[in-house]
Amino acid sequence: MSTAATTAPTADRGISGERVLVLDFGSQYAQLIARRVRDQNVYCEIVRHDITAEQIKNHAPSGLILSGGPSSVYEDWAPRCDPAIFDMGIPVLAICYGMQLACDALGGEVSSAPAREYGRAHVRISNHDTIFEGLPPETDVWMSHGDQVSTVSDAFLPLAQTSTCPIAAVKHRTLPVYGLQFHPEVSHTPEGGTVLKNFLVSVCGCSGKWRLGDFARESIDRIRAVVGDARVICGLSGGVDSSVVAALLHQAIGPQLSCILVDNGLLRKDEQQFVIEQFTEHFKTNLHVVQAEERFLSELAGVTEPQEKRRIIGRVFIECFRAEAANIEDARFLAQGTLYPDVIESGAAVDGPAATIKLHHNVGGLPEELGFDLIEPLRDLFKDEVRRLGIELGLPEELVWRHPFPGPGLAVRCLGEIVKPRLDVLREADAIVVEEIKAAGLYRQTAQAFAVLLPVQSVGVMGDARTYEDAIAVRCVDTDDFMTADWSHLPYELLARISTRIINEVKGVNRVCYDISSKPPATIEWE
Ligand code: XMP
Repeated sequence: MSTAATTAPTADRGISGERVLVLDFGSQYAQLIARRVRDQNVYCEIVRHDITAEQIKNHAPSGLILSGGPSSVYEDWAPRCDPAIFDMGIPVLAICYGMQLACDALGGEVSSAPAREYGRAHVRISNHDTIFEGLPPETDVWMSHGDQVSTVSDAFLPLAQTSTCPIAAVKHRTLPVYGLQFHPEVSHTPEGGTVLKNFLVSVCGCSGKWRLGDFARESIDRIRAVVGDARVICGLSGGVDSSVVAALLHQAIGPQLSCILVDNGLLRKDEQQFVIEQFTEHFKTNLHVVQAEERFLSELAGVTEPQEKRRIIGRVFIECFRAEAANIEDARFLAQGTLYPDVIESGAAVDGPAATIKLHHNVGGLPEELGFDLIEPLRDLFKDEVRRLGIELGLPEELVWRHPFPGPGLAVRCLGEIVKPRLDVLREADAIVVEEIKAAGLYRQTAQAFAVLLPVQSVGVMGDARTYEDAIAVRCVDTDDFMTADWSHLPYELLARISTRIINEVKGVNRVCYDISSKPPATIEWE
């Protein structure tokens, strides 16, 4: 993957002012910590746990947060940090495993807790030091640990305890180092936001001025500086991420932007029209629509295996994109909607840019051989931040709050063979699902809602006649991160309306089922 200046090391990235680094020791909550810090308007990034003190200096952080992690500090293979980080004068907040590590390094003992503590615990604060300012004397916190700090040297001041954890929070007497055995970043710690704010504002001295508006302005300046008078190509899918990238580029370089929409015939109902309206009428971009339905469907003919479908779609997409891009003169840059979680999951944030992007994100992604320099202006943002940025840039709410749609589109929701008549049935049913969920005012509350066309037919009766027709599964899930998800507990009346409408309005469907599986063990998509 080529790296344009927009993906240069953090210190050069130009996001002005304060930043906090989260050193990741393998915590399931590292991303959450970063989000919570950003909620306090302080820019935050996740870095490898073994970042050296010297490397940290390049980032010039206002504070460091050591995340939790699944290891035990007394194991040989346990991840450690450079001990010099504690002597840099930079405030450190060490959470759970991070606290055990800090105490182990600075004069404390860690042992296996008498009772493992997972879940809600009640903490008593014995010292309302800066970090606990404004907290009640007792409060609920979320614990998730097998080990704990059993003793600390005089160098530390204990600040809080629970019934099973005598040292639930500590402060170093001479260094700006704090340790919390509990997790302030999770919503089950109601005062967690205050604790983080106290650390950021009162301990680190952050002013909390980071705003998405600044991010947009700085991004626009940087894009202009990097691009000069060259042309940038941006692939549009109708999804939030690519739309926000296009809107940002449009503001930065206006007529030097060319967008490409590949209509693979696997899009939702009226999708092509929607994208054309948004990006020719609203944003007046130079939009190239590649009509490739026939090509995709002929390549997919007879294919039923999901990964094979993905591979074909990925390959044909690249071929179509490449052919169209070749018609665009002076194109030097390719803009992509890579987000921060993709960067972290790919390992790029911690292992360097060469690490592999996870399979999902390679599908529909574009390979290096296309020969463009890459611009990824959203690679520092989380999804909710991208949505807020979209609103700042003037994108309509309807677009910004769209549910995610997979790169391979309806191909992974049309189980079995993909032929146009089946796709049309699916498109109609899908449109009804989304329409009804929106009409019930539940679209924003649910994370993803769609229809799936099953490869089975079943017996029904319509009028006096026996039918033998298709079945549609309705899938609707609640999730924040799409890694785990619960099925949405939609009201029965809504499900009834969806079912009645699909059966009455979509020719060829006589049965509707509601998918009540969570992820794991199921996945969100059926293929
Ligand atoms: P699963 O089905 O793995 O989906 O629970 C998690 C999220 O990823 C989306 N998804 C995909 N996105 N290409 C994509 O761009 C894919 O091949 C793909 N498969 C799943 C899915 O819609 C959900 O948001």
